[in-house]
Amino acid sequence: MTINKALILAGGRGTRLRPLTHTIPKQVIPVANQPILHYVLEQLHCVGIKEIGIVVSPDNREQIKHYIERNHWNLNLEYIEQKTPQGLAHAVIVSREFLGEDSFLMYLGDNLSGGRLEGILNTFESAKADATLMLKEVDNPQQFGIAEIGTGGEIKRLIEKPTNPTSNLAIIGTYCFSSRIHQAASRIAPSKRGELEITDAIQYLLENGGIVNSERLDSWWFDCGTKDDLLEANNVILSQFATQHIRGSISEDSEVEGLVDVGKGTVITNSEIVGPVKIGENCVITNSFIGPATSIGSKCKINDSRIIRTIIMDDGIIDSVAQIENSVIGKNCSIFSSRKSVDKKQFMIGDDAEMLL
Ligand code: DAU
Repeated sequence: MTINKALILAGGRGTRLRPLTHTIPKQVIPVANQPILHYVLEQLHCVGIKEIGIVVSPDNREQIKHYIERNHWNLNLEYIEQKTPQGLAHAVIVSREFLGEDSFLMYLGDNLSGGRLEGILNTFESAKADATLMLKEVDNPQQFGIAEIGTGGEIKRLIEKPTNPTSNLAIIGTYCFSSRIHQAASRIAPSKRGELEITDAIQYLLENGGIVNSERLDSWWFDCGTKDDLLEANNVILSQFATQHIRGSISEDSEVEGLVDVGKGTVITNSEIVGPVKIGENCVITNSFIGPATSIGSKCKINDSRIIRTIIMDDGIIDSVAQIENSVIGKNCSIFSSRKSVDKKQFMIGDDAEMLL
């Protein structure tokens, strides 16, 4: 029953994160300068799971490959193409050949969590379960699959995105399954949103004698579906993992405070950097304030600007912008301001944008 295989779901469309997701799959958007999938693979590596299937779409396959094959963990990655995003249970159906009769861990490729995987694996294995779920209390249960729990802690019912939720326990994007999930996935009908829901397949198991149990997540978790999720995930990951590590050069007239990680070849002059902050390689930062909860990719140029709680991807140029905050800025974007203003700006812009304010 030991789990040696994982299935990562990285297909889908990412419509809520447009315009970014027109050019970059949401699963590889950088958070603290690493693609979201980097953290997923790291967690799998930590529990020794090396055989990994990744469900991709025909559109994002090459990009996902490009980003994650740079991992250093020696994992066996197999790409499984799902022609159209027909739901999470459909993703399991198209992965049948890779999964065979093995039990497996399924991880949604847009989820980030501070929990470790040992707990769910132990709960699954010790109960010889058919499905083990991870649950977390949320304020907005309408947006998730939810679990109704009985007085003895047992799962009574699972409902996908209920209009009138009867529980605030969301099913988060990490599951363990036995091979019984395949029969369940083949028995369900599409939901109101036209998808084969994994929540419905697990409900089928529950109604047909399967053992379904759960584990509570007592750490942070983000389903990175919106700009605010991405920025908060960036903040939490920077706060938790950033280290004070300066590999670039910082002039004497600059100040650096808190957890600040600066990459090789980056030159910072007459600027103030207040962590947690991560700055990539070969950036040039002059006369600027880079504030908490900010990550800046590589080869960026920032001059005479204030940047707070923001993600800027590689090759960005920001010049003379009074304050950018709560923003996500795609690769190779240029933002210039021709007039002196004190306005605070918030952006969500896709790759290659050019803006003159
Ligand atoms: O984040 C947790 C939630 O994830 C659960 O509470 C819900 O029960 C579950 O249905 C799921 O809901 P979402 O609507 O947020 O799922 P989303 O469409 O964002 O897809 C999750 C991941 O799976 C994402 O990386 C895209 C991928 N995916 C999605 C679909 C619909 C696929 O690979 N294939 C698909 O067909």
